[in-house]
Amino acid sequence: MKHYTSIHDIDNINSWIEEAKTLKSNPLKHLELGRNKTLGLLFFNSSLRTRLSTQKAALNLGMNPIVMNVSGDAWGIEFGDGTVMNGKTAEHIKEAAAVVSQYCDIIAVRAFPTLTDKVKDESEEVLNAFKKYASVPLVNMESATGHPLQALTDAITISEHAKKTRPKVVLSWAPHIKALPHAVANSFTQAMQKMDVDFVITNPEGYNLSPDVVGNTSVVHDQEEAFKDADFVYVKNWSSYENYGKVLNTDPNWMITKEKLGDAKFMHCLPVRRNVIVEDAVLDSDSSLVIEQANNRTYAAQLVLKKILESNN
Ligand code: CP
Repeated sequence: MKHYTSIHDIDNINSWIEEAKTLKSNPLKHLELGRNKTLGLLFFNSSLRTRLSTQKAALNLGMNPIVMNVSGDAWGIEFGDGTVMNGKTAEHIKEAAAVVSQYCDIIAVRAFPTLTDKVKDESEEVLNAFKKYASVPLVNMESATGHPLQALTDAITISEHAKKTRPKVVLSWAPHIKALPHAVANSFTQAMQKMDVDFVITNPEGYNLSPDVVGNTSVVHDQEEAFKDADFVYVKNWSSYENYGKVLNTDPNWMITKEKLGDAKFMHCLPVRRNVIVEDAVLDSDSSLVIEQANNRTYAAQLVLKKILESNN
């Protein structure tokens, strides 16, 4: 595997999950694999879990992680071809990616969408520019349309906690005050489509995800109906895709409560706004898997880095 930029880079999700569990049982077993190799983590946006767990994963493999907040600390990067650079940008991605490739054996990038320009966001301008102009493997730490490290994590967590062979998994939209990206919901959907689960999406009218992502997955606009017999309820807000990037609905009736959840396990990628997305009683109960999910971020990232190191050794 050269790059990990999408959930579609996973050839067999079940074997990846089993390998991640093995890594988790002995995280330092491959300390020699990454010795003298450098992982560069480039953040165009904020992060807590991705930033720390990906560094931890690199350290567990003996790698040296180096981190840069690109938006705050680097020169403004130009992505347009043939641009007369007499504006805010000071360095072209052609030079930036080539230079960073000399310092790093693997580059990991986080770059969120604009949520105002659908065409630009769906072109994955930043991620694809690094893929084009870097000469080393690339890892997606959440791009405009996908968060495949999070989705691999979630697949591992569901596998660990499933009590039946084909659990029912529901992805539920929940309200939020701000316009949020589709990346987590997109990649989670794509991961569930690769797993042997009974998968349903529930969201209000006007909030269907991209038809290219949803495919044949059932979408139910009645949350209560969707939650019937659910084993896992994965909750996330996203802005409208149809009315791109807009907040059309903040109905608090879509917030997740202990009563709605029933016996199902609650999942969320974090960070989560308490009593907006989900009530305290859920997060503070044994039904919540959010801390276990965050722990598994390390092993998902470690598996991805291990596969890239093995492929490129
Ligand atoms: N879930 C997740 O990606 O968390 P951060 O944004 O804190 O990295």
